[in-house]
Amino acid sequence: MSKYYLTTPIYYVNAAPHIGHTYTTIAADAIKRLKRMQGFEPVILATGTDEHGQKIERAAAAAGKSPQKFTDLISNEFRQQWKTLDLQIDRFQRTTDPKHAKVVQDLFDRCVKSGYVYKGSYTGQYCVFDELYVNEAKPGDPCPDCGRPTETVTEENFYFKLSAFQERLLKFYEDNPEFIRPEARRNEVLAFVKQGLQDVSISRTTIKWGVPVANHAPHVFYVWFDALSTYMSAVGGAEAGEGLWPADLHLIGKEILRFHAVYWPAFLWAADLPLPKKLFAHGWLLFENDKMSKSKGNMVRATPIKEALGADALRYFLLREVVFGQDGNFSYDALVQRYNSDLANGLGNLATRTLAMIHQNYSGTIPNGPGDPAIAQAARIAVDSALDSFEWLNFSKALETIWTLISAVDKFIVERAPWNLAKSGDTAKLADTLYTSAEALRIVTILVYPVIPESAAKIWAQLGFRTPLDAIRTADLEWGKLASGQEIEPASGVFPRADVKTVIEKMREGEAAELVRQQTLMGVAPPPSVAAEGGSHITIDDFSKVDLRVGEVKSANAVKGADKLLHLQVDIGEPQPRSIVAGIALAYKPEALVGRKVVIVANLAPRKLRGLESQGMIVAASLEGGNPVLASFLEDVPIGARLK
Ligand code: MSP
Repeated sequence: MSKYYLTTPIYYVNAAPHIGHTYTTIAADAIKRLKRMQGFEPVILATGTDEHGQKIERAAAAAGKSPQKFTDLISNEFRQQWKTLDLQIDRFQRTTDPKHAKVVQDLFDRCVKSGYVYKGSYTGQYCVFDELYVNEAKPGDPCPDCGRPTETVTEENFYFKLSAFQERLLKFYEDNPEFIRPEARRNEVLAFVKQGLQDVSISRTTIKWGVPVANHAPHVFYVWFDALSTYMSAVGGAEAGEGLWPADLHLIGKEILRFHAVYWPAFLWAADLPLPKKLFAHGWLLFENDKMSKSKGNMVRATPIKEALGADALRYFLLREVVFGQDGNFSYDALVQRYNSDLANGLGNLATRTLAMIHQNYSGTIPNGPGDPAIAQAARIAVDSALDSFEWLNFSKALETIWTLISAVDKFIVERAPWNLAKSGDTAKLADTLYTSAEALRIVTILVYPVIPESAAKIWAQLGFRTPLDAIRTADLEWGKLASGQEIEPASGVFPRADVKTVIEKMREGEAAELVRQQTLMGVAPPPSVAAEGGSHITIDDFSKVDLRVGEVKSANAVKGADKLLHLQVDIGEPQPRSIVAGIALAYKPEALVGRKVVIVANLAPRKLRGLESQGMIVAASLEGGNPVLASFLEDVPIGARLK
């Protein structure tokens, strides 16, 4: 059968992976498994990291690293996150890969050749201090980052003639109504294109960290031209490559649909390359009904959830709770409730019960079929309906349907009461009952596999199958394929019931530690606190290794290009004041700090931040989502006094 190539967006490396990125990537992994089950061959899933641009250059500088070192580090975080979650990623494409640069350049050359690229001048409001254009600012508007007035700057850019594609795009959407899914998103795109399209700038001369435009230094490709091309470079390019282009599906979040539905087809048409088959824009994941954001401190990461409840619990929750395509809500409480009700009590219970009864009554061999016709019929209906919902990427509906079958089988078992049949010696009916529940369990296991692969594999093995679930196809969903006489394995619970309070506490603790780990990696936070490391104790000797001193701020200055940093000179009673770079600029004005007594970690290894030596660290309370608050004293204390 034919190939199926699907992609996730490539994630910006100015943030470490969180549950929002995980949401898309988990869904893509589920689709990959589903497509394979439908018989597509090969099924290739590509993801990657978007590593160029000013924001990333700045994030690197804030972490005291070169852009390349920084992007290596964070890109690897994404790679590791997908490994930790056991996602079947086939290609991991980075925009800093030299092979990718060739693909971007080739796309550009083709667009130049066909006459869709011209040189023009770009005028925008520019913050000289932050070296950034401020989108949508008017002359005189302040920079939202540092508050300084922006300047009107004009630079030469390469432009892409997007305006030439308005009619062609509208006709294409009309002829291919399935190109943009779901329907509501498609309508938004139609309305946007109908308003008229403006040409877009595809190069910059003010940015250094980007793919250079060959023979046109100092132009570098502007982010989206570069980023969208990864979908081709991930598979070796559109033409020469592996024969996988065009992509069959780009899975994205709703906020980047316009780039995919408008820019991308136009770039590809201009380059005379085939278009992707489908775009699916899913909704946003909220945390307890609030938008997740770094500044609110309400981001959630996947690893602590996996450690507390398993990756499948998260996968199941995300795909069952949220209607794919709409916004949805994440909360620890809802996650554990769903785990207990649907996985532990629902599927888990059906599996343990069925397997245990077969062990008890048939020494672990599947009894004779063909099973109850009503349940067989219910299974057929559930299979058709679940596959249909899956096809539309309506995961929640598919799962709901599968769970209706689970409930029907549960009810059937209770009504048949096999424990009574065993007592009364009604062996034919007992065999029929247990075959029915085992066969239904087999079918359910195949159906849930794309969503909860690890648990499905465990149940599958307990049912006595040796062929991996990866090799199972939809034809295997037919009723009656379970062979009587098959030896099953000992039953062991796949979803142990979770104590809500304990598990939530574990996830919250894990989250706090993971947050600190990521922040430390990004260079934006103090090193992990002891509590975050799992509450282990340290000895007084450990503590006395930290040389905490009272210091007085002698001078404080802003740090160029870093709106969070201040450069301080702090007197701690040594011949020279210490030079200390501290991330407190959003909370304190430099002039308000001069003369203030502060606490310094005096024996921290010195390091360079933004080219400035930092010989210690200033102690402050770090508030999630809020500004830091400096430690200080109510009584007067002498400079240089040690805190013990
Ligand atoms: N680099 C661009 C994409 C270029 S694709 C050629 C980008 N990167 S991003 O890191 O900001 O990732 C955006 C994607 O992450 C979203 O489209 C979505 O897939 C996922 N999500 C990030 N946060 C999310 C939520 N809170 N909820 C759901 N998905 C979100 O944009």
